[in-house]
Amino acid sequence: MIILETEKTTQALASFLAGKAGAGDAILLSGPLGAGKSVLARAFVRAFCQDAGLDVPSPTYTLVQPYAAAACTVHHFDLWRLGGPDELDELGWDDARDGLVLVEWPERLEDMTPADALHITLDVRPDGTRVAHLRGWADRFDAQALRAAGFAPAPAAQGVVEQGRASPDGAQG
Ligand SMILES: Nc1ncnc2c1ncn2[C@@H]1O[C@H](COP(=O)(O)OP(=O)(O)OP(=O)(O)O)[C@@H](O)[C@H]1O
Ligand SMILES: [Mg+2]
Repeated sequence: MIILETEKTTQALASFLAGKAGAGDAILLSGPLGAGKSVLARAFVRAFCQDAGLDVPSPTYTLVQPYAAAACTVHHFDLWRLGGPDELDELGWDDARDGLVLVEWPERLEDMTPADALHITLDVRPDGTRVAHLRGWADRFDAQALRAAGFAPAPAAQGVVEQGRASPDGAQG
């Protein structure tokens, strides 16, 4: 879990992840309304497309918006209004998976959830700051790499246990 002190930190996390991502990847963004899923998605698309001024509207009504990046196509999904996983076909889910998919409200995917996805859950704390819980992509980065990149770990509170791969004490110097 890391602390996203401001929107800028969320954007920095998105840029960090864009540097680790490529064709065939799925990034799933969970969290309540207003948690910052679209802020993260927008910054991710801009970083991945290397176009800081790119217009990235929230695909609330179209449900999906494609972007052509040099590496591959990115499809940004917002599945809040998806009726059920059957409707994914009409949205071109299978073809989108050839490139990179970025999904808000991934709970709607149900059994279509990609097994190797990066799961990001955003939460709003009482002081308005956000925390991000990341699960997956253990072969690409770990908590230590996030710390090295300048992201502050959130204190494990209220019995929340960090999932994924914990680096053992003393590992990697
Ligand atoms: N640390 C932060 N990271 C991201 N957004 C933040 C942060 N702090 C404040 N915000 C604000 O929270 C709001 C997040 O809105 P956003 O549209 O990204 O939420 P969302 O999770 O996509 O919601 P929805 O489920 O309605 O699509 C923005 O207005 C943003 O400015
Ligand atoms: Mg959103």
